[in-house]
Amino acid sequence: MDAATIAINQRMNKFDGHDQVWLFGYGSLIYKADFPYIERRPASIAGWTRRFWQGSHDHRGTPMAPGRVATIVPQAGAVCDGMAYLITPEVFAHLDHREKNGYLRLATDITFDDGGKVEGLVYIANEENAAFLGAAPELDIARQIARSNGPSGPNSEYLLHLASALRELGKSDPHVFAIEQYLAQLQAPAQDSTAAYPGGISADAGLT
Ligand code: BEZ
Repeated sequence: MDAATIAINQRMNKFDGHDQVWLFGYGSLIYKADFPYIERRPASIAGWTRRFWQGSHDHRGTPMAPGRVATIVPQAGAVCDGMAYLITPEVFAHLDHREKNGYLRLATDITFDDGGKVEGLVYIANEENAAFLGAAPELDIARQIARSNGPSGPNSEYLLHLASALRELGKSDPHVFAIEQYLAQLQAPAQDSTAAYPGGISADAGLT
């Protein structure tokens, strides 16, 4: 599976011969660029929406207890905001390895926030990859994220970094922000049931 993903990506030769390529990031790439880049610009791609539908067995979960990370899925009229990086082709070898769990390179039009359009690449994990988990209610996604941990750290850290990076860019993503809100509720200390009753009678104490 891992080797297959890397091999498919290496056969993606659309930009062969180019010495610089624009890469669009919509997940961890927005806040974590652990690779050299020439330039970085806020950008978006049209016709795609971000969803926490990809399982993570290798970064934010384990094979027995996968976490959930972002992918993008096609949606007419949608716009996915993120960050574009101008990189050299060698960087793809690093990313192919880092994101080997089902993410394939796809050519896409990228629109820069400050104007202009280029053709570049994006990594997507579609429903054909073995780690794909698919749609679930946002509360269930938050529950899964709350309990998941992997070699790269807690799944919640990924979600919270992404949400705050989007906010810093001045962008809204109702799916990400809803999961963030559910996560905050799940992680809030349980309410003290005696707090509303200073005399010490608990909220669910019977009157008989
Ligand atoms: C991204 O943040 O855009 C990204 C997501 C998955 C794999 C590679 C990049």
